Amino acid sequence: MIPFALETRSVVKRYGSLVAVDGIDLAIAGGEGVALLGPNGAGKTTLVEMIEGLIPPDSGQVLVEGLDWKRDGAKIRGRLGTCLQDAKLPERLRVDETLELFCSFHGRGLDRAEELLQLVDLVPSRKQLTGKISGGQRQRLALACAIAGGPQILILDEPTTGVDPAARRQIWEILKTLRTQGATLLLTTHFMDEAEFLCDRVILLENGRILEQGPVPELLARGGVSSLDDLFLKLAGRRILE
Ligand SMILES: Nc1ncnc2c1ncn2[C@@H]1O[C@H](COP(=O)(O)OP(=O)(O)OP(=O)(O)O)[C@@H](O)[C@H]1O
Ligand SMILES: [Mg+2]
Repeated sequence: MIPFALETRSVVKRYGSLVAVDGIDLAIAGGEGVALLGPNGAGKTTLVEMIEGLIPPDSGQVLVEGLDWKRDGAKIRGRLGTCLQDAKLPERLRVDETLELFCSFHGRGLDRAEELLQLVDLVPSRKQLTGKISGGQRQRLALACAIAGGPQILILDEPTTGVDPAARRQIWEILKTLRTQGATLLLTTHFMDEAEFLCDRVILLENGRILEQGPVPELLARGGVSSLDDLFLKLAGRRILE
């Protein structure tokens, strides 16, 4: 049996009395694209960081291609490309040096760094210090670093927040291409159009639990609405509207 690319079994994460992730089961097949949606504080980043092995669950299990973080951390690490919500990059390196560094982590050379620089359109900023580039440029650099090793599984936390519309489209095209090449994608986003464009399925979280999930057309039909925005407001926006 082929294992899921990403799987969580009843994962729970508590911060004091707050249950940030409240027993979530996820199963994402190889090559599938899944978007995690939900209001601020829903638990998206917490869930994603457990899947990335950055924070341990209080209970439950996280598997990556059938491997458990507790036993096979080193093997898993090489299979994932991750982009954090507040990606930390080495501020004192220049943009091209940063990419070269990330490529070297994966045994890739200068040609790969050059390819990535062009892919995310940072050639004009290549000599700027990473700490001094704009927020949108930083997002694009973080994405380039995440895919430096050509990972088959991508986990991206709000990859286009703060980038201008043209750069957003460009990031979408990059991700779409990677998906057509077979990559698995798990992303969090507040942009419904992004979820629809890049993913086969969306999962709506609130208060650390799954409210709804499924392919977009199915969810719209079930919710009796015509757009994901409307569905979001209907299901998760109750608090906002009340
Ligand atoms: N390190 C932490 N210590 C205490 N509470 C935390 C910590 N990290 C997250 N939380 C809390 O857990 C809950 C879920 O946070 P999380 O960052 O996972 O939400 P999110 O869905 O990613 O939100 P956003 O859309 O704003 O990024 C929030 O109530 C948050 O305050
Ligand atoms: Mg978040």
